[in-house]
Amino acid sequence: MYSKVKGTNDVLMENAKRLSSIEAFLKRVVGVYGYEEIRVPILSQTELIHRSSGDTSDIVKKETFDFEDRGGRMITLRPEGTAPVIRAVIENKLYTRQLPLKLFYMGDMFRYERPQKGRYREFSQFGVEVVGTNSPYMDAEVILMASTIFKLLQVKKYVVKINTLGDKESRENYKNALKEYFKDKLDSLCEDCKERFNTNPLRILDCKVDANSEILLNAPKIQDYLSEKSKAEFEIVKKYLELMNVPFVVDTKLVRGLDYYTSTVFEVVIDGVDGGQSATICGGGRYDDLIKSLGGPELGCVGFGFGLERLADIVDDNIDIYKKSVLCQLIPIGDDAKVHFVKLLNELRLQGVDSEMDYEAKNLKQHFKAADANNAKFIIIAGDEELKAGTLNVKNKITNEEVTLHEGQLIRYMMQVVGESEESCGCGCHHDGEECCCEDGHDEDCCCHKHE
Ligand code: HAM
Repeated sequence: MYSKVKGTNDVLMENAKRLSSIEAFLKRVVGVYGYEEIRVPILSQTELIHRSSGDTSDIVKKETFDFEDRGGRMITLRPEGTAPVIRAVIENKLYTRQLPLKLFYMGDMFRYERPQKGRYREFSQFGVEVVGTNSPYMDAEVILMASTIFKLLQVKKYVVKINTLGDKESRENYKNALKEYFKDKLDSLCEDCKERFNTNPLRILDCKVDANSEILLNAPKIQDYLSEKSKAEFEIVKKYLELMNVPFVVDTKLVRGLDYYTSTVFEVVIDGVDGGQSATICGGGRYDDLIKSLGGPELGCVGFGFGLERLADIVDDNIDIYKKSVLCQLIPIGDDAKVHFVKLLNELRLQGVDSEMDYEAKNLKQHFKAADANNAKFIIIAGDEELKAGTLNVKNKITNEEVTLHEGQLIRYMMQVVGESEESCGCGCHHDGEECCCEDGHDEDCCCHKHE
């Protein structure tokens, strides 16, 4: 008997379905904001990961899966998506295209962490990276998009935490202030923090061991060391978020666990239930120096990453994205209509209109039960009388409107609904771009039969 490798998961059918529904949902949302997909390899050069995440980060110090391949090259399983995506941007000269590039990606990441609920060695991320923008408005838009995802998924009690690490000058001043503050308190800090004091004192603020100690709580705040430019940019981010009604808190201790961040950083956190541990579902921020440090041009970037397992854990099972849903449910009344509808079902599907019919249903009640289970948006129903007249009744389950259509009009009507054809006022006529003849009430000759 073999077992799975520690910290990895078999994603069984129900959970696979949940994850793929969430992925499809996220793709739809970021699509609306203009993001395009990019796929990059899981195997990375070790140097790329170490250099981008930073030698003082926990990820590089303790968590990367590094190994030598058979050709003697040092390889790392990607622990995150930003560095591999930026490597691809540079290697493929994507920065020569229209900027900003708005990219999204998803896939497995690997970190050698101590496994526990929501913390795995192999896990899945959905991320976005905007490349070639220095505008703080874009920082705010990325935060807005992350927060919108939580809202649309009806997640309750999430907290958007933001902070700024300022520009280079602000960070240097702040690091010096932290060194000055911590220098005679080192004995009270954990072993890792003692090392962080020498390598990158900002990291001390991110320490999980010392997080709630008095020393950390009283440490100098970055806000007191920001340059005027950094202050003004952070103000824009906050103003935009207020304008867009995104509730947020400024957390001056938020520094993030990767070294490439500059200025705006943020996390979306679910606070621990019943005093339990809080979980960071999404983290991101601006990283203006990374492209240049990896050999590319100087271009500002901002992005975020969602942990998909953690997101799936907090999304309620009853929300719409998990529910099966079809556009049309066909309900035949009688055997003749059933035979007729089998053909119609096939025609609708061939035109890309997702449709269902319950072959087993013995009465109307069972047909309607199937329509409910399928979350059908339209019910298409006909019996002997309609067959004779060559018509169908179409009921919109959302608006409760009903129209009677000639059978030949149905496919066009449904395609208008799915947005494949010309605009429709919803009456069911084919207007060919002309004004609808039945706009002010339906006239006698109207082909949609709504007036009948
Ligand atoms: P990160 O905060 O290291 O940022 O990871 C993003 C998210 O991945 C976390 O908020 C968490 O939900 C999830 N995650 C991280 N580690 C684990 C784990 N061991 N098990 C399960 N889930 C985990 C980044 O990775 C950056 N690349 C985000 C970014 C994109 N910043 C700018 N652009």
